[in-house]
Amino acid sequence: MDIQYEAQLTFNRLKPRLQDRYYAFKEQNPEVWKQFSERLEKYFPKLFENLFPLYGQVYDATFYIEELFYVMADAWIDRPDDLKLLDKKKESDPLWYQSNQVLGAVCYVDLFSENLKGFFNKIPYLLEMGVTYLHLMPLFKVPKGENDGGYAISSYREVNPDLGTIDELICLAKELRKNGISLVLDFVLNHTSFEHEWAKKARVGDPYYNNFYWIYPDRKIPDAYEAHLREIFPEEHSGAFTYFEDIDKWVWTTFHSYQWDLNYQNPAVFVQMAKEMLFLANIGVEILRLDAIAFLWKKLGTNCETLPEVKFLIQAFNCVARIASPALLFKSEAIVHPDDVIKYVSQDKCQLSYNPLLMALIWESLATREVKLLNHSMTKHFAIPAESTWVNYVRCHDDIGWTFSDEDAAELWINGFDHRQFLNEFYQGKFPGSFARGLPFQENPITGDARISGSCASLAGLEKAINVETKVEVDLAVKRIALIHGIILTIGGMPLIYLGDEIGTLNDYDFRLDPLKNKDSRWVHRTKYNWDRYPRRKNTKTIEGKIYQKLLEFIELRKSHKVFGNSDTIFFDTNNPHVFCYQRNNENEAVIVFANFSEKIQKIFLKSISSDVNGEVVDLVTNQKIDKGSIDLSPYDLKFFKLTR
Ligand code: GLC
Ligand code: GLC
Repeated sequence: MDIQYEAQLTFNRLKPRLQDRYYAFKEQNPEVWKQFSERLEKYFPKLFENLFPLYGQVYDATFYIEELFYVMADAWIDRPDDLKLLDKKKESDPLWYQSNQVLGAVCYVDLFSENLKGFFNKIPYLLEMGVTYLHLMPLFKVPKGENDGGYAISSYREVNPDLGTIDELICLAKELRKNGISLVLDFVLNHTSFEHEWAKKARVGDPYYNNFYWIYPDRKIPDAYEAHLREIFPEEHSGAFTYFEDIDKWVWTTFHSYQWDLNYQNPAVFVQMAKEMLFLANIGVEILRLDAIAFLWKKLGTNCETLPEVKFLIQAFNCVARIASPALLFKSEAIVHPDDVIKYVSQDKCQLSYNPLLMALIWESLATREVKLLNHSMTKHFAIPAESTWVNYVRCHDDIGWTFSDEDAAELWINGFDHRQFLNEFYQGKFPGSFARGLPFQENPITGDARISGSCASLAGLEKAINVETKVEVDLAVKRIALIHGIILTIGGMPLIYLGDEIGTLNDYDFRLDPLKNKDSRWVHRTKYNWDRYPRRKNTKTIEGKIYQKLLEFIELRKSHKVFGNSDTIFFDTNNPHVFCYQRNNENEAVIVFANFSEKIQKIFLKSISSDVNGEVVDLVTNQKIDKGSIDLSPYDLKFFKLTR
């Protein structure tokens, strides 16, 4: 079949219907309509190409394509003028997210500022740090009680009343934009809460909505699927299905039982979710974090993760965005094997992606004091398509999963399973000599798997150092925190700071007293922002001040050198097992970076590392000339040298 021909045919058939329907609007707003129809014409073939493999077998698929036309047209017509202007602005600088000026931050509204109203007062603080990208954790309507920190959404259009209203959110988005900050929200598209109206209707047997989810009368099909599935939250329920007594049925619930997986094999779900997505775009969201995308498509006999159809789905959503809200970009959240992470990253899928491999391996290197797995894995997996970018982070609201590749590890004679056991022991503070204080997350006694919860500072040793050790250990912990932040700020990509980390927030064990939280150890690092401690950020005699000021130095360094934005990253083996090294290159600048992952002084021989070291070498921070022979790096030192090529 000639898919391009079919696309054209479908388009030609639908176009007159679209024109009839929007005739009056077109007459009154010829220019606005023209923009839309040009983009529709441009991106439709691509949209069709991606929808066809998903829905080509569905007998009434063209009905849904027509629906989708109207959803996109309505959204464009409703798109506020200031956002239409934003579309223009971003179209003229499409790779804006690759600039060295961008700096991301993420927080929970309630933990950071009580509510949306309170957030307005915190904007100056974000500006002080230089934040230009703000991810607010899910803030929509959720079931009372447990709701997975907001990831069980009951309506994509209503704000959780404890946090504020949709109008306040729209105002906040505007205010942020005025201050040069892009608002980022989650698009939780794999599941809704069981209190979403679609789920409620499905639950009472409405056949239309029943087909929005995966609902079965007995264990026959669930058993067949489960034979191949991984358990994601085994502490909450075993398997991927939950039994609901009131309806005597089994429902697919990959995460918690109150999060019902959507059925994307039904085109009605795609169209409906496209509508919800454009609603989010039209309230002023500039980047959507596509939550848990690896799980979107299911197929019997597979593990239902990262199936090829997911790519088509994301590409189709991306076409919808290009047509109806051009400024909107996607960030991929796929915390999976590195070969799978990369599958979602490109201009026509997610322009941005979390970099879970770097995140996990900087913690791995801190534990082992060795950088071989980090260096080897980055050499193999850091490169991504030119128009996309990594979002580099050290901590987020989730656990740390040790998602390095077993094959990479084996190439270094490391056994992946054993190494994960070691890392889990280490970060729970159980391994002899460990500096870390973390908690296990989702321990699975059958497979032996577990992940780690804990705040950056507690995992980096600050909690133990303050409570049971001396000033020397406190200083080392501070240095570890600075080191890993310095890396995410300069390695290539957008740095994302988990707010609170910049002042060394420790674990808060009080979640154990809350029956709604005590089953989920991630709450240990989802703590209320401590505004009493934050004035100390200005005083470098305090721990908060030491961390904050060091971070500001690195931020300043990033923002004053273009080479830390979009440019190449090359990794080098330093011949010193403790020292990680990368070089950033653009047409004008070359900077080589050394990171000492040990608490001892380390020697490196500059000349033997990079062939670029012919001319003068200058310390980027002090501007002093460097002897190209041997260089000493102090404990946890991060050094930046400018090369003259
Ligand atoms: C994502 C979120 C995580 C949540 C899960 C289910 O992985 O980051 O917090 O539990 O999706 O929505
Ligand atoms: C699983 C998922 C990931 C999610 C995490 C939450 O690892 O793959 O998407 O963030 O669970 O714990």
